[in-house]
Amino acid sequence: MNRRSLLRASAVTAAGMVAGLRPALAADAEIEIALQAPGPRISPDLYGHFIEHLGAVIYDGIWVGHDSKVPNIDGIRRQFVEDMKRIAAPNYRWPGGCFADGYHWRDGIGRGSRPRTYNYWRERMPPGFDHTETNAFGIHEFIRLCRLTGAEPYLAANVGSGSPREFHDWVLYSNAPAGTVSLAAERAANGSPEPFGVKWWGVGNESWGCGGDMSPHEYATLYRRFVTQFPAYSPKPFLVAVGPRGHSRDMDLAWTRGFFEAMQGGHHSVVDGLSLHYYTDFRNTKEKVATFDARGWYAVIREGMRTESVIGSHWNAMSRYDPDRHTKLVVDEWGVWYPPGEETAPTHLLSQPLTLRDAVHTAVTFDVFNRHADKIAMANVAQTINCLHSLFLAQGDRFIRTPVYYVFEMYRNHMGAQSLPLRVRCDELTVPADTGTVRMPGLSGSASLKDGSLAVTLTNPALDSSLAVSIRLAGGSAAEARAVVLTHADMTARNTFERPGEVKLAPLPVTVRGNTLELALPKHAVASVEARLS
Ligand code: AHR
Repeated sequence: MNRRSLLRASAVTAAGMVAGLRPALAADAEIEIALQAPGPRISPDLYGHFIEHLGAVIYDGIWVGHDSKVPNIDGIRRQFVEDMKRIAAPNYRWPGGCFADGYHWRDGIGRGSRPRTYNYWRERMPPGFDHTETNAFGIHEFIRLCRLTGAEPYLAANVGSGSPREFHDWVLYSNAPAGTVSLAAERAANGSPEPFGVKWWGVGNESWGCGGDMSPHEYATLYRRFVTQFPAYSPKPFLVAVGPRGHSRDMDLAWTRGFFEAMQGGHHSVVDGLSLHYYTDFRNTKEKVATFDARGWYAVIREGMRTESVIGSHWNAMSRYDPDRHTKLVVDEWGVWYPPGEETAPTHLLSQPLTLRDAVHTAVTFDVFNRHADKIAMANVAQTINCLHSLFLAQGDRFIRTPVYYVFEMYRNHMGAQSLPLRVRCDELTVPADTGTVRMPGLSGSASLKDGSLAVTLTNPALDSSLAVSIRLAGGSAAEARAVVLTHADMTARNTFERPGEVKLAPLPVTVRGNTLELALPKHAVASVEARLS
């Protein structure tokens, strides 16, 4: 791998960076941030979560039960609550995923025993292991989790095997004030007199696949039936329609176009959000989660960077049908998905022992979200614990943070801040690939401003060269700055139950010279800089 000495002439690269700035200092990477030209607000919801009744995400991961020896709050794993508060988790999407279109919400309420029901993921369980749904974790327990961690609920309704009536009853049960409809009284009898106040509603999940195997036209017809009689209680809903399988090679633009075509012709149903699923999908490859070479390192990060063109392509496709730009994208499933075989326990379906590579992928993805904050209303990592792109792994009383967790912590300052345009001059990398070598951006980054404090996040994906970085603040200067870095000598480093602190944050020196910040960004590293402006 080496860096190209030639600068790209001008164009915005795949990672949204502009080349061509004249170097002012002898730095490898020069960044200019226009403090006086703030862009759109970065919604905290871009740092959202997805938790499904799948393998050990809910049971064992989050829900340990009231009588568990694992420290818990009302049956919810205490360490999970504390860590989610620490990263200011803004929301959870629940109960699926594919599980959602087989879930009947009434099975998960009531103080007595609850029915044992079928779980969509049962067929994936290894022989000898059961995956019967106990329904111990239902809407009340989910809302308790939200309240404990300060997050908003995002419910995925059952379109595939449910009905508009079942959906509307769930809305009534959740949002109708006490003293109105009978479902509100039932909610109160089950311990929650106050409405849950659910704003975010997903109308189905992956209706092109496990959610019903439909065409976009078939789904659009159902969408209209599901939302037309939506019960009008507070809060005003944000209705999310099922969108494309963005990780298809063709990005599945046909779904987005087909859905909006079917919504034309005098139909009036509101679509506030279009769900976009984008997995960095290595399922049909030989890529391993925890053992890889330089080619594998770059392949995963390059594929993660493709998020940007997927978002841009669907956003462009939508403009024809929605010139006023009412509908925003909701990237409610994203993450790296490796082939099976390295699960952390047989019952922990789809779990992956994530490494530093996945943390770098996370940072690059967040930079894309930050730079496109005008287009995205929400994003949800798939999935928060014991699953694909998880922040945590848990088994009984054992619990660790993966390297991915630390990136959520590092990007916290962007949440709710105004995005700032970033101009970057950095040589591209030439990296090994299946087809010889390819070029890719040599640096990823994003910046934002909140309450007089500047946040800059930077990622150096290179495996063999650090970067001397100079950040020039146009239209201001810094009084002081500090930074942290996430890296490790070994690119395959990860945290395990035996060595939970192998990959963690460390301080990174940053020098302030008036309107310039200088730092040395190590190889394969993510840095987060916070500067107080003078
Ligand atoms: O996140 C795992 C699964 O991936 C979800 O259940 C489904 O929506 C997607 O295909």
